[in-house]
Amino acid sequence: MQLPYIEPYKIKMVESIKKSTVEERKQWIKEAKYNLFKLSSDKVIIDLLTDSGTGAMSDMQWAEMMQGDESYAGSRSFEKLQSIVKELTGFPYFIPTHQGRAAENVLFSSLVKEGDLVPGNSHFDTTKGHIEFRKATAVDCTIDEAFDTSSLHPFKGNVDIQKLQEVIASNPLEKIPFVILTLTCNTAGGQPVSMQNIREVSALCKQYNIPLYFDSARFAENAYFIKVREEEFADKSIKEIVKEMFSYGDGMTMSAKKDGIVNMGGFISLRDAQVYQQCTTFNIMYEGFITYGGMSGRDMGALARGLDEATEFDYLESRIQQVHYLGNRLVEFGVPVQQPFGGHAIYVDADRFVPNIAKAEYRAQALAIELYITAGIRGVEIGTIMADRDPVTRDNRYPKLELVRLAIPRRTYTLSHMEYVAVALKNIYDTRHEAKFGYEIKWEAPIMRHFTVELEKIGIN
Ligand code: F0G
Repeated sequence: MQLPYIEPYKIKMVESIKKSTVEERKQWIKEAKYNLFKLSSDKVIIDLLTDSGTGAMSDMQWAEMMQGDESYAGSRSFEKLQSIVKELTGFPYFIPTHQGRAAENVLFSSLVKEGDLVPGNSHFDTTKGHIEFRKATAVDCTIDEAFDTSSLHPFKGNVDIQKLQEVIASNPLEKIPFVILTLTCNTAGGQPVSMQNIREVSALCKQYNIPLYFDSARFAENAYFIKVREEEFADKSIKEIVKEMFSYGDGMTMSAKKDGIVNMGGFISLRDAQVYQQCTTFNIMYEGFITYGGMSGRDMGALARGLDEATEFDYLESRIQQVHYLGNRLVEFGVPVQQPFGGHAIYVDADRFVPNIAKAEYRAQALAIELYITAGIRGVEIGTIMADRDPVTRDNRYPKLELVRLAIPRRTYTLSHMEYVAVALKNIYDTRHEAKFGYEIKWEAPIMRHFTVELEKIGIN
């Protein structure tokens, strides 16, 4: 019999989880205006709101914390981080930022202007937010298979080359400052982009002289999928695959809170000296001096080590196997989920789970709330609320998918936690026809409303 995979680490420190009752949670979520972001964490039993900044650092990362050099300029910790980023990505220029959206802010301040178009594969909401804030448009060119949660396409994060070609051919080139590829594609379900697709996108961009940037938050998980799903890469190391992925582009933004396995941090990495020069000015204005960019020295040291650990196959395999364990259990129970499973999360398909709640009554949010009330599990709606309103018409922008994302923090929970989540969802699924409530919005912010939206419960027919 084949031995099962095991986590390539053991646990040295633990944090207790506070349990609660259904009645308590009903009250708490009402007080939180039915917005899971408004709950304090001690009211949550298993927190799958995000895998961003919620992972556990290794002993070696904690050791780096003690060695942090907190000099304002030119710290050793900066040098250490810069050196691994250059080695991993091959890009010669590096700028630290405090997190991913800060990297977007700095880079887009240099490159995006009013009226521009930025094509890509289902841009993440902060990416889209930073584009739209500059009165430019994010154009989604993801392949159609990405929007069919039962299609088993191995690289659902891929760009449809035809769609991209059409956007480029039908617009003045000066209106397209760059193309952005998100690795893995979070909005499409943590789905990877194949090396072949990266090559094709890169070739098309080169043909038209358009730069290609990567939103790299989960670049290591993307490299894992390339290794196990694209035959050509079966014998390559993750670090070799990562280097090749980035070789096809001009730069990257990074939220280090994901595949950097740190609690806070980000960076930009670039090929072009001129873009680097422009970014340094914005970095100094928004983030801090160019050798710390909003991060303390100790955090840069921990990130340097985290990037090295996150690009090791054994770590990635156990990480992704854990996510897939949850996905497989849900499939066994008949719960509709996005397939194939992505790298960092399982996405429950609310359209198939609770079609009896109207889209206009935010069915994915209703399901996320029910999961919290039933078992104290906090997921997040990736559906109509997160999609925001159309910036021109102000109508709800109904996305192609209504999902509840269960994002798994790195190295934080065990298989029995995954089992708890699977059984909680099964129980809700078995009684789904009894769903009684949808929701209406009582207050919302003009952009990125999901973080602070306030909702009220309404009965459904
Ligand atoms: N790009 C992607 C693909 C992301 O998933 C995120 C964050 C960002 C950029 C922005 O990075 O949070 O460091 O500013 N995603 C988190 C999530 C928030 O829950 O998926 P950040």
